[in-house]
Formats: sequence, C-alpha cells, structure tokens
Amino acid sequence: MRIFQHVQDLGDLRVALAEAQEVKRDRYQWQHLGKNKTALLIFFNNSLRTRLSTQKAAMNLGMNVIVLDVNQGAWKLETERGVIMDGDKSEHLLEAIPVMASYCDLIGVRSFARFESRKDDYEEKILRQFIEYSGRPVFFMESATVHPLQAFADLITIAENRPTPNPSREGGERGEGLLKVVMTWAPHPKALPQAVPNSFAEWMVAAAEQSLPLGGAEGGLDFVITHPEGYELDPQFVKGARVEYDQMKAFEGADFVYAKNWSCPGVTRPEDYGKVLHDYHSMMDWCVSKRQMAVTNDAAFLHCLPVRRNMIVTDDVIESPRSLVIPEAANREISAQVVLKRMLESL
Ligand code: CP
Repeated sequence: MRIFQHVQDLGDLRVALAEAQEVKRDRYQWQHLGKNKTALLIFFNNSLRTRLSTQKAAMNLGMNVIVLDVNQGAWKLETERGVIMDGDKSEHLLEAIPVMASYCDLIGVRSFARFESRKDDYEEKILRQFIEYSGRPVFFMESATVHPLQAFADLITIAENRPTPNPSREGGERGEGLLKVVMTWAPHPKALPQAVPNSFAEWMVAAAEQSLPLGGAEGGLDFVITHPEGYELDPQFVKGARVEYDQMKAFEGADFVYAKNWSCPGVTRPEDYGKVLHDYHSMMDWCVSKRQMAVTNDAAFLHCLPVRRNMIVTDDVIESPRSLVIPEAANREISAQVVLKRMLESL
C-alpha cells in the first residue's frame, strides 16, 4: 500500500477486519517489519488520539517514530507556489517535503480543511503535494476531506459490538435483520470540517456494498444519514446513501448512532462552503439525548472524540453503558497498525 486515503485502498474489508483482530491477538508479532524503519508523523493541526495511537502502532511494529508539529518550532511553511516569500513564512513546502522524506520511510500527514477554497480543500492540495514530492508512502491522518484511520476504527468497533443475530429480532422496521447505523449531525459553536462524516459515510457504504456480515440473518447494513437541510455531504462519499431529515424518524430502530458536527459542505450552494448555517442555540434539539436514544434498538453510541458534551451529546448518553467512545478510540491503535503494517510490507 503506497497511499491510505480511501476505503478502497484497504481492499476487501473482511480481510482488513480479520487482520485487525489478528493485530489485537498479538500486536508485537511483526516487529521485524519495522526494524530500522522510521515513520514521520506531521501535524499541521492539533491531535490527541491520532498522535498517540499512530505513534503506538508504529512502535508496536518495531519502528522509530519522529513527530513534527509544524506550527510549534518548525519554520512557518508557505504552501502556495509563485508567492513572493517576503512575509512570515520562511520555508516552502516544496523544499520541506523532500527534506522531511529523506529522514523517513513512511509519512503520515494531518492537514485540516482551510475553508479558503472548496476546490483546494476537495482536491486535497496539501496532501497531494506530499504524495507527489515525497517519494514515500503517505497515509492520511485527517485531511481536508477524509479521516480514514478514524473510519476504519469505527468499522472495527461496529463489527466487534454488533448485536448477536437473533431470529426473533428480524422483520418490522429493522428490515429483516439488517444492522441499522445512523450518522447524525449535531450542533457545535464552531465551523468544523467534513472529513469525519465523509469517511464514515464512505466506509459504511463500502461495508454495505461488500455485504459485510454485520447484521442478523440477512447480514447486511442499513446506513442512514440525518442532518438539517443544507448540510448534504459530497456525493462522492455518500454515494446515494439514504438521507432522512427528520432526526427522530432516522433514529427509529437504530443499532448504532454515530454523532458528529460538520459545517456546510457547499454541495448545493458552493458559496456556503464551510459555514455554520444556523445559530447553534436554535439547533439544540439535534444534541443526542435520551429522547432520541429511546426510539432506537438500544443503540450503541459512537463519536470520534474530542466531543463537546451537551452540544453534540448529553452527559447521560455519553456516560451510559451503551457508549462505545473509549473502545472506539482504543481501536485507533489497531486501525493504524493494520495500515502501517501493510505499508511496511510493500516497501
Ligand atoms: N478522533 C481524532 O482524530 O482525535 P484527535 O483529533 O485527537 O487526533
């Protein structure tokens, strides 16, 4: 594997999920793969989980790890070509990338959406330069549009916690034993990127297409997205997945609820890209609480973290026994290890 950006980079998800369980059984069995190899993790933005879990995964594989916070101690980087560099940026990305690549074997990059240009963000202008100029395998640690390490960990968590198939649960609104996964928009005071919901949708659609054995007797997956009008995600990720604007209706019979805020993706109105469309005070009904969870099929609650309590989800829901946010975060180490292992195997 030379690039990890999209779900298809991982191939057959059954194989990937089996590999994740193999990693869990003994995460130190591939230390020979990473001997004398170095992973460079580059952060243009803050991180807790991605930084620690990816570093741990690399160490599990016997690798050396270098972590660079670009905005803390490195020269300020210019990313635009053709600019007269007479401002505060001392170094250009076009020199910095090959220099950084010369010190490592694999590169992970976190670079969020900048919301200056939808085109630049959705073309992954920063990450594309790392792919083009580093000559190294590159894995996305949350980019402008995707967060595949998170989505893979989410899928592992769903597979591990799916309800045990039970013929008496079939039928009715659950759709003959299908596993119902609902991704819901929730309010937030700031404009957040679409990377997490884009990837979660992409991975859930792929799981459904590949008929992963996640549900009951029929084995399939019913994926529903719910959000206020105007927050429609880019079709390249949702690929026709069902959208239900009535949040309570979407939650009916859900087995998993995945909450996340995102700003306007600008699909229908490009001029609204990256905007918060409503004052969050008027959207607090969308905060996931016992009210919505009561109509689910005793759903498990997921969120990528960090989460703003009582904006995205109430204290009682995130603290309930059905909240999986901690095992979900722990699975970030596993998803990262599968990806790094595959990259090492292809060096
Ligand atoms: N979920 C996630 O990526 O967390 P961090 O932003 O802390 O890395």
